[in-house]
Amino acid sequence: MKTLLTAVKPTGELHLGNYAGAIRPALEALGAPGVRGVVFVADAHALNSVSDPARLVRHGVEVATGYLACGLDSERALFFRQSDVPEIFELAAILACVCPKGLVNRGHAYKAAVGANQAAGRDPDAGINMGLFGYPILMAADILCFDADVVPIGADQRQHVEIARVLARRLNQTYGEGTAVIPDLQVQAESAEVPGTDDRKMSKSRGNHIPLAASREELRARIFSFVTDGRRPGEPADPEAVPLFALAKALGTADEARAVAAALREGAGYAAVKEQVFESVDRAVSPIRRRYAELRDAPDVIDQALAAGAERARDLASGVLARIKKAVGLS
Ligand code: TRP
Repeated sequence: MKTLLTAVKPTGELHLGNYAGAIRPALEALGAPGVRGVVFVADAHALNSVSDPARLVRHGVEVATGYLACGLDSERALFFRQSDVPEIFELAAILACVCPKGLVNRGHAYKAAVGANQAAGRDPDAGINMGLFGYPILMAADILCFDADVVPIGADQRQHVEIARVLARRLNQTYGEGTAVIPDLQVQAESAEVPGTDDRKMSKSRGNHIPLAASREELRARIFSFVTDGRRPGEPADPEAVPLFALAKALGTADEARAVAAALREGAGYAAVKEQVFESVDRAVSPIRRRYAELRDAPDVIDQALAAGAERARDLASGVLARIKKAVGLS
């Protein structure tokens, strides 16, 4: 049995980029035989940037609803909210004592925040809380607390999992082999990245995203707002240079993507291409949209799934934590 672990930070509504880049590949990997899935809503991770409790709760529910709507089997995988598993936070306190501060000083997110402060002539640590600084330690605790073997991630999370590996190795070197399981990272190909309406990587902070649960009308409007160049109908286009094609490839079937490529090469106008891409994306997301709406009307179903998942997750995490506490000499 291999334990595969993945989590999403609930900082905004889920979008097609989360789906194609993270959720769908994770669900595929979780469906493989011999895999135990650990999937959670990383609400405590969001606490370093979300100070409105109602928003934190709402985004957490959105993420949970999204996973279930996309087909996560919460009976098979351990599916829960991070903050329902206090063992993680206890482990984070232990890992903080194993973690060299210099390692965290080099964290991308922290360095970017310091860089932005310096560029603006502010104190380097202005507005930076310890949650942001220590983010990699909490994330290492997420991973090590479940003896995760594999962590599938986007390239932006690579450094975090590398730090988790360093901390696992240090535990084993200091306290004996077998104290922690060293997780493998599985970095998703760059090509799994979905462009947003402005052709930059789709992200909620850029506002260029298409919500996973968008209505058919909203989906059409968002796809029609995609940037295009000044090419005139009749002029052939190279599909690889057209962001709409990347969207079609990420969400449509192979046949649908081929049809979009052919239309572009034949010089179809962008309005026609957008219509074609819209229909194929709509076909892909309409079952998700339907289940999302059903679940939204049944919040008890989601609560119960998360509560049952938390209980099973604590079962696993408390065993791992007890092993590590014993190894380091804590009661
Ligand atoms: N840091 C990840 C993100 O920002 C979310 C996350 C939290 C995570 N804990 C994790 C991902 C553990 C993988 C494993 O998206």
